[in-house]
Amino acid sequence: MDNNKKTRLVVLSGAGISAESGIQTFRGGDGLWDNVPFEEICSPIGWAKSPKRVTEFYNARRAQLAEVKPNEAHLILASMQDDYDVRIITQNVDNLHERAGSKHVLHIHGELTKVRPLDCYTSKDGFSTEYVQDIGYRPVEIGEVGGPNLKQLRPHVVFFGEEVPNLSKAARLVQQADILLIIGTSMQVYPAAGLCNYAQDGCDIYMIDPSETPASAVLGVNHIKNVATEGMKEFRDMLNKMTHTI
Ligand code: APR
Repeated sequence: MDNNKKTRLVVLSGAGISAESGIQTFRGGDGLWDNVPFEEICSPIGWAKSPKRVTEFYNARRAQLAEVKPNEAHLILASMQDDYDVRIITQNVDNLHERAGSKHVLHIHGELTKVRPLDCYTSKDGFSTEYVQDIGYRPVEIGEVGGPNLKQLRPHVVFFGEEVPNLSKAARLVQQADILLIIGTSMQVYPAAGLCNYAQDGCDIYMIDPSETPASAVLGVNHIKNVATEGMKEFRDMLNKMTHTI
């Protein structure tokens, strides 16, 4: 069956889906931002204060990405592409959805394996990706430059306070969803967390997370209170049962 006849499953994923692959989440006690204030590492001020510290932080996360693998939650999502038109909106900068085989992945907070010159991919150049380059898992050095003006390379990651250029694309995807799955995100960071409000009437909303989040209270969401790998099995089996009873 071609994609436009399949039920459209839109997914909003966060750090929690990669937790069982060994990648630290950001909040919740032993998260990344519980150990290092995000202002120092993931903000324009932090970059201005110490581009070296920021560069080293992302070099370490990029190196770790080479050592980890997609977990069963990523893999189940990828396998659901056979029966559903799956569109993933991810806040994650890792590439585990792609490595699991998911074909439609929209990164709204950037990508760890990519870098760009300081003066490119801005509102001035219309967020052109012309000078965004994929460097895989290797480190970037201070002094490594690129683009037409040979500017320092920085992580292709959205810092706090910066624009989220892919947001409107993401909102349109949620508006077109027959089913919306929110998985592994604390729903605390806007504008990403506001995406769930674009779901239309009739769109069934599910959430997979071992904890309560603002979404579970407000949206009347079907909350599968479990970790991603187990929750994805429950979710997949629930949907399969429903489609076979219609
Ligand atoms: N399976 C599923 N969910 C999990 C698991 C797991 N094994 N472990 C933790 N979680 C849940 C937590 O309960 C929490 O709700 O994942 C969520 C992680 O929340 P955060 O650490 O805040 O991550 P996220 O929501 O992706 O952060 C959003 O904040 O710092 C910025 O840009 C960064 O994209 C990130 C954004």
